[in-house]
Amino acid sequence: MRPGTLQLQGLPPLSLYIHLPWCLKKCPYCDFNSHEWSATSEPGKALPEQAYLDALRADLEAALPLIWGRAVHSVFIGGGTPSLFSPEAIDRLLGDVRALLRLDADAEITLEANPGTFEKDRFRAFREAGVTRLSIGVQSFNDAHLKALGRVHDRAQAIAAVEEAALAFDTFNLDIMYALPGQTLADCEADIRTALSFQPPHISIYHLTLEPNTYFAKFPPTLPPDDDAYAMLDRITELTAAQGLERYEVSAYARAGHRCWHNLNYWQFGDYLGIGAGAHSKLSFAHRVVRQVRAREPRLYMDKARAGDAVVSVDEVARRDLPFEYMLNALRLRHGFELAQFAERTGLPLSSIQAGLDRAQQQGLVVLEHGCVRPTVRGFDFLSDLQGLFLPD
Ligand SMILES: C[S@@+](CC[C@H](N)C(=O)[O-])C[C@H]1O[C@@H](n2cnc3c(N)ncnc32)[C@H](O)[C@@H]1O
Ligand code: SF4
Repeated sequence: MRPGTLQLQGLPPLSLYIHLPWCLKKCPYCDFNSHEWSATSEPGKALPEQAYLDALRADLEAALPLIWGRAVHSVFIGGGTPSLFSPEAIDRLLGDVRALLRLDADAEITLEANPGTFEKDRFRAFREAGVTRLSIGVQSFNDAHLKALGRVHDRAQAIAAVEEAALAFDTFNLDIMYALPGQTLADCEADIRTALSFQPPHISIYHLTLEPNTYFAKFPPTLPPDDDAYAMLDRITELTAAQGLERYEVSAYARAGHRCWHNLNYWQFGDYLGIGAGAHSKLSFAHRVVRQVRAREPRLYMDKARAGDAVVSVDEVARRDLPFEYMLNALRLRHGFELAQFAERTGLPLSSIQAGLDRAQQQGLVVLEHGCVRPTVRGFDFLSDLQGLFLPD
C-alpha cells in the first residue's frame, strides 16, 4: 500500500455491523438490501441459517487483518429482518464474534426485530443469547396506515411486541415513521402518544421518503402536504420532550443514558466493519480512510464470503471529500462536535473547514463555543443547506 496523505493521530472507536438480508415480504417503501425469502429461493424452505452463519464467520476471519488488536465497542445486527433468525442462530453468531474479536465486556449489542407474533415469543431468548438492546420496527400503531405501508403486522401485534420488549430488555428502541399515506396531524399525534405510553427509552422517528427503485417510487401514494409534515415533526418534538426524551439527533430521541452507542459512533465518524450481504465498512488507518462494500445478493455473497472474497469494492475516501463526509454525520447531532475531534477523525487541519464554518456562522446555522460546533435550531431545520457548505469546490 502506498502511503496516504492524511495524518491521523489515533484510530477512532470501532463498531461491528452484521447484515441479515431476508424479510417475509418486501415493503413497498424499502430500499434496504432486503430480500423476500419465499420469492428469491425455494418457497416453503427454511432460511439457510447455518450456511449464512458460515459465510459471516469466513467474512469476519478474512477481515481481521484490517482491524488487528482493536477492541469492538458495539455490535448491530440489522436487516432485513434479523428476528427471522432463530435465537440459537443469534447465539452462535455472537459466539463467533466473541471468539474472533476483542468485544468489550459491556458492549452494546442491538438486534432489529419486526413485531410479528412468532418473533415476539423469541425476545427473551435473544436476550439470553447476549443481545442487550432490541430495535422494533413498529412504524405505526394504526391498522389502516400499517396496511398502506404493506406491513405484515397489525396494531395488536405491535402493542404486544413492545410490551414484551419492555419486559425482556433494559433498553429498547421503537422505529416509527410519519407523513404516511392518508395520515393527519391527529393520526400522527395518536401514534406518538401510543408509542410514549410504553415509556420507551429510545424512539427513532423517520419522515417516510419515496426512495428510488422502490414500488412506491413507481406507484407513488398520496402523501400529506409538506406543511402538514412540518407540523407533525413539531408535534413529535413537543410530545417526546414532554416525556423526557431528548432529540439528540435529527431522527433519534432518547432518555438519559439510553442513546444508541452504535449509531452515535457512526455520527461521530467512528469506524465500523460491516459484514454480511451488501454491508458497508468505514475503516481508518494512520494515513487514510477506506470504505468497503460487500456483495449485495445473498447467494452470491455467501459463495464469495466462504471463499474469503466478499468485498466487491474498496475506495480510499479522497482528502477533498472528507470534510463533507464528516459533516454529513456530525451535524446531525444536536450537540454537534468538537473541533479537535474533526482533526482527530479526518487527519485534516482545521483550515480545511474554516471557510465553511465562517459561512455557516454568518448564516446563523451553527454556533462555535468552547471549541465545539453546534447546529442552531435554524441549522437543524436547514440541515442539507448547512452540510452543503462543506462540499468540495
Ligand atoms: C433497516 S430498516 C428495517 C427494520 C425492520 N426490518 C423493519 O422494517 O421493521 C430500519 C428503519 O428504517 C425506516 N425506514 C425504512 N425505509 C424508510 C423510508 N423509505 N422512509 C423512512 N424511513 C424508512 C423504518 O422505520 C425502519 O424500521
Ligand atoms: S421489513 Fe424492514 S427491511 Fe424488510 S422490506 Fe420491510 S422495511 Fe425493508
